Amino acid sequence: MSLVRMYAVGDVHGSRYFNLFLASLKSLINSKPDLIIFAGDMVDEGNAKELKMIVDSIKSKFRGIPIIAVFGNEEYHEVEEKFINEYPEVVWLSDSLSIVYINDLKVGIVGSRGALEKLTYWQRKNKPILERVYRERPAVIKKLLSDSKKVADITIYVSHYAPTFTTVKGEPEKVLPFMGSRYIEDVLKDVKPTIAIHAHAHNSRILEADLDGVKIYNVSLPARKAITVINATPPKESINY
Ligand SMILES: [Fe+2]
Repeated sequence: MSLVRMYAVGDVHGSRYFNLFLASLKSLINSKPDLIIFAGDMVDEGNAKELKMIVDSIKSKFRGIPIIAVFGNEEYHEVEEKFINEYPEVVWLSDSLSIVYINDLKVGIVGSRGALEKLTYWQRKNKPILERVYRERPAVIKKLLSDSKKVADITIYVSHYAPTFTTVKGEPEKVLPFMGSRYIEDVLKDVKPTIAIHAHAHNSRILEADLDGVKIYNVSLPARKAITVINATPPKESINY
């Protein structure tokens, strides 16, 4: 049966964890991904230049592998265009859907920053509009995932913020509302993408979970200490014999 092999990683934070990223990339011998996923916070403080060493290290190891990315809180809203312009080889998803063909499979990837249940102090002061954005985003994600499921064999949800609290366990209880949003969890349980990938929770000790059949992966580099290799196969009901 066909499958899609992914390398997924988030929270490299530029030079902060680049050596860890590089060591992990080098250790992945005798394997080649079909797809590479950046789950946000690949740089620090909006510094788009820091992504170059990450993209270059991938390009020197693999040729022509699609890279799909979402923005994290460190890829500031104000510099999104910079990332898009400076890295045209990366498909940037921001509340959008991309369909790619891999190993005879139609793969739908829905990407978003995700949502938080509570605004951070900085967000409350500087970007109060985010309260509405986070409130409305679950419905936006639901529509995109449903669109993907109509046409794709495999549907992948990628966000920076966690779509559930199950894979952020290990973070202090009081910071959970700043890690993600369980309103997205309701969407995942309802629409059932094949898998969901997120980052942002560096201190999580539970890195994978099963939400009513939807496999969730926290691919935060400091939490995993490695790039996460994920194999996705189409759900049984979508296979045509
Ligand atoms: Fe983050």
